[in-house]
Amino acid sequence: MPAPDDFFDDSQRLASKIKTEIVVKYFKPWLDILARRAPKVGYVDLFCGPGKFVNEAGQEFPSTPLRILDLVAQHPELTSTLYLHFNDAEARHAASLRTAMEAHPAWPLICRRVTISSQRVSAETVRSWIQPYPALYFLDPFGYGGFTFEDLDTIVRQHGNDLLFFLNYNRFNPELNHQNPLIRRQPETLLGTTSYEALQHSLQAAATSSQRQAIITDHIWSQLERGGAPQHYVVPFEFKFSDRDRTSHYIVFVSKNANARKIIREVMAGLRTDRAGGSFEFNPHALQGGLFDGHFRLGDELHRMFAGRTLAVQDVIAGHDRAFPRSPYVEKDYKSTLKQLRDRDYLTVIKPDGKAVPRNQMPDTALVTFAALNQR
Ligand SMILES: C[S@@+](CC[C@H](N)C(=O)[O-])C[C@H]1O[C@@H](n2cnc3c(N)ncnc32)[C@H](O)[C@@H]1O
Repeated sequence: MPAPDDFFDDSQRLASKIKTEIVVKYFKPWLDILARRAPKVGYVDLFCGPGKFVNEAGQEFPSTPLRILDLVAQHPELTSTLYLHFNDAEARHAASLRTAMEAHPAWPLICRRVTISSQRVSAETVRSWIQPYPALYFLDPFGYGGFTFEDLDTIVRQHGNDLLFFLNYNRFNPELNHQNPLIRRQPETLLGTTSYEALQHSLQAAATSSQRQAIITDHIWSQLERGGAPQHYVVPFEFKFSDRDRTSHYIVFVSKNANARKIIREVMAGLRTDRAGGSFEFNPHALQGGLFDGHFRLGDELHRMFAGRTLAVQDVIAGHDRAFPRSPYVEKDYKSTLKQLRDRDYLTVIKPDGKAVPRNQMPDTALVTFAALNQR
């Protein structure tokens, strides 16, 4: 990973752009819903950076805070009750962001509702940033420090709040077993001691680095899910290194709202590897070589789950979604997988009135009959 000072002009810039896109593309629909329901809404970015990043040719690009101001300029009616809170431990980053924001055309519209501060966020102080109104929280440190999972649970449990946070897997993984106890304290602080010890125990079963990664991520996502009542929804977006087939970091979405999860999946699906054309992954889509193009795991799961049964397309989608709440699939994935299953005679589809469904269609209300497992 780059040294912090190099961050804004190193080869991670494409990852930074995708990260910004995820936040900004999610924030607009979040505002559409929450700004109509609550008298005040917020956006809280505690590791805000200087407001720009620079590519190898020296060109500057606006980063997340300025893209949020673009939204204010484009939708003044939607953002008239929006409060923005930015913070960065580096005073020069906070100052640079202030200068860039003051030059933005939206500044006069919102300047009375913006705070820009420079404090070091830590697990001891992060809760003091929780606002008394619904807000989207974006926690984007270089590593994974400055908060605990318990803090994240507290943020998300509050009405209307959603969260996107950065997890530097490439640092977290080796630091779990680091020989220096001070460094080992960091993953332990993030997880909590009981969870940290349970993870250490589970990791004894890991024989390869990919097994280790599966155990670590399952442990983390499960812990975050259990933080809600009845549960939180967790949607991770995985970033691979551009030159190696290895995970660099994750942007993780946490919410208690199933509709919010649906929206973030659509946002992330628009940015996943096959569309971005780069080296970033969005979980199982990159797997190859199964029965069903691109989504063989989904095809197999649907076939196993619903073998011998008849149900509406929308109930297939909802049923699978309930059984696999962490899966990354969007409606388009389900429908294209159902069409592939139909093309291979794993199922038949008819309209509710018994008429045929054209081959390129898969309407929500159509009735799907899955072949029994032993018929295939
Ligand atoms: C990855 S950058 C943030 C990038 C920003 N989110 C964006 O989209 O442009 C991380 C920032 O966190 C700041 N930072 C690191 N540790 C911090 C801490 N404990 N409290 C507050 N800010 C911190 C760094 O100075 C740096 O500007």
